[in-house]
Amino acid sequence: MHRRFIVAGNWKMHGSRDTVMRLVKGITDGAAVSSDIDIVLFPTYVHLAQVHALLQGTAIVCGAQNLYPGTQGAFTGEVSGPMLVDAGCCYALIGHSERRAILHEGLELVAAKFQAAQQAGLIPLLCVGETQAEREHKQTEQVIAQQLASVMEKVGAEAWSQAVIAYEPIWAIGTGLTATPEQAQHVHAFIRAYIAKQHVAIAGGIRILYGGSVKPDNAAQLFAMPDIDGGLIGGASLDAKSFLAICAAANKSAVMA
Ligand code: 13P
Repeated sequence: MHRRFIVAGNWKMHGSRDTVMRLVKGITDGAAVSSDIDIVLFPTYVHLAQVHALLQGTAIVCGAQNLYPGTQGAFTGEVSGPMLVDAGCCYALIGHSERRAILHEGLELVAAKFQAAQQAGLIPLLCVGETQAEREHKQTEQVIAQQLASVMEKVGAEAWSQAVIAYEPIWAIGTGLTATPEQAQHVHAFIRAYIAKQHVAIAGGIRILYGGSVKPDNAAQLFAMPDIDGGLIGGASLDAKSFLAICAAANKSAVMA
């Protein structure tokens, strides 16, 4: 089954109007050569409208790093799915490990956010992954199965047809320690097989991205693995040249596939 690669930039809590403008310009100036992949940018909430405007006329789309499961109401400080669609978003990151750990988002809340994103018309990009300790205790598959199961129980297996998954081992995020292509492939195959138990065709089509210290010099080896369909990039997405090099590596894999 042909799966179109995605390279996504998660900017986390970085940027000013000025740096965002220069970063988007740098990316759009060089992205045309990577036309065989999908490129998605995830700025902070406050930069979404600006980024969306700068992306007009390009094939690059933007998404939000979070949302609140609800449409509107007395939820001070929160932003809903419909508001994000109105601001020009196509995607929403759901269950990033930083939100699970720092903002204490539990399995139920993550599942509710996944559902709210889809109900608003956003594509949820669900992040799953294990800690270093869980890996050492050989609990990686168990942890990821639980992260997938809680979403599946809430929305049903069919919902995976309108979603993207990112495998982000927590020990590889921002540490410079990348999972080896073989380690990542093993977990990606596990995720696909897990979904295949519920729905074989959807499992064959769902895109599973790898995230965790992806850089221009390791991207090609990761993207060559059969179940890795692109990357969710943190640090390297803040530099147009690095991000474009990763896009080019994905585009090369896409063309060869
Ligand atoms: P780094 O690429 O900085 O390791 O971050 C990965 C990540 O968390 C993307 O969501």
